[in-house]
Amino acid sequence: MKKDILTLGIESSCDETSVAVIKNGREILSNIIDTQIPIHEKYGGVVPEIASRNHIEAISRVTKKALEEANVTFDDIDAITPTYGPGLVGALLVGLSYAKALSFATNKPLVGVNHIQGHIAANYITYKELEPPFLCVMMSGGNTQLIHVKNYTEFEVLGKTRDDAIGEAFDKIARVVGLGYPGGPKVDKLAAEGNKDAIQLPKTHFDNLDFSFSGIKTAVINLHHKTPDINKADLCASFTKTVTEVLMENTKKALREANVKTVALAGGVSASKYIRNEFLKLQEEGIKIYMPDLKLCTDNAAMIGSAGYYNFINGQKSDLNLNAVPNLKL
Ligand code: KG4
Repeated sequence: MKKDILTLGIESSCDETSVAVIKNGREILSNIIDTQIPIHEKYGGVVPEIASRNHIEAISRVTKKALEEANVTFDDIDAITPTYGPGLVGALLVGLSYAKALSFATNKPLVGVNHIQGHIAANYITYKELEPPFLCVMMSGGNTQLIHVKNYTEFEVLGKTRDDAIGEAFDKIARVVGLGYPGGPKVDKLAAEGNKDAIQLPKTHFDNLDFSFSGIKTAVINLHHKTPDINKADLCASFTKTVTEVLMENTKKALREANVKTVALAGGVSASKYIRNEFLKLQEEGIKIYMPDLKLCTDNAAMIGSAGYYNFINGQKSDLNLNAVPNLKL
């Protein structure tokens, strides 16, 4: 009988310290997430130095808990798979250095994982039957990309944001209109109470599949400053509707370009109720649509352990010189 392969996913690229044990790339044995959101809330966003310090404080405890919950020891682990980019360099270095030390001490292979590849892999955990090729609409706090996932380890970026990531726009708008941090879930919730057709907002289009979200972000912020009694729910609903339309328009073009009929969503913003419902409508056009479980949309180590498994079985191995790469590309 084929032996199960266990990967130890380690994630510390932003404000979550997370460690997971993943079986054969698809099954979560444990997925411990220690979030720093309450720590950064009072600053209105993630403070990189504070994030690094808190990762250091949490990483051993979270790892121990992940092994305990999975009921395994280091001996049972086949590969140690940390995120090495993109992300905040100081934050990344904590998880990566810890993983390198573990690899050295236990003599287990080290396999670096691109955080974006991890977000894509969140879909493999939710849908056991999903296999590449498909188009991934990656929407997070740091990235917005249309990715042709050709196989488990081969990707082509068909379009990306030229300025703000979509999650960044959600977060900045939330801060300005007084909803707090992280703004995405709060804008999403308030949007559900508003009229999405109440306010006309600008859309930016390019000849290719790129995005731009800074124009609409500035338009919303200016409207809020110039019209203090503007209905915030209408503003959030109109913003969410407009960015979703842009996402969908480019997605349809990308599906034609990549010649695929399957879409998988990924990243924190794909937790938006409105965005999920709108993408589901693509089914009426014969498109298969996948979206990760809500708890796997935002940063977690389970998705990193899943991507790490596919890197590992495809022969990738990192050495102890592996460094954190804050602007790592797919
Ligand atoms: O993927 P993620 O956890 O971190 C990155 O890798 O960037 O994404 C975080 C982003 C934040 O901008 C957050 O506001 C947004 O995802 N977000 C949401 C929702 N939940 C999280 N945006 C819209 N609606 C949500 N329900």
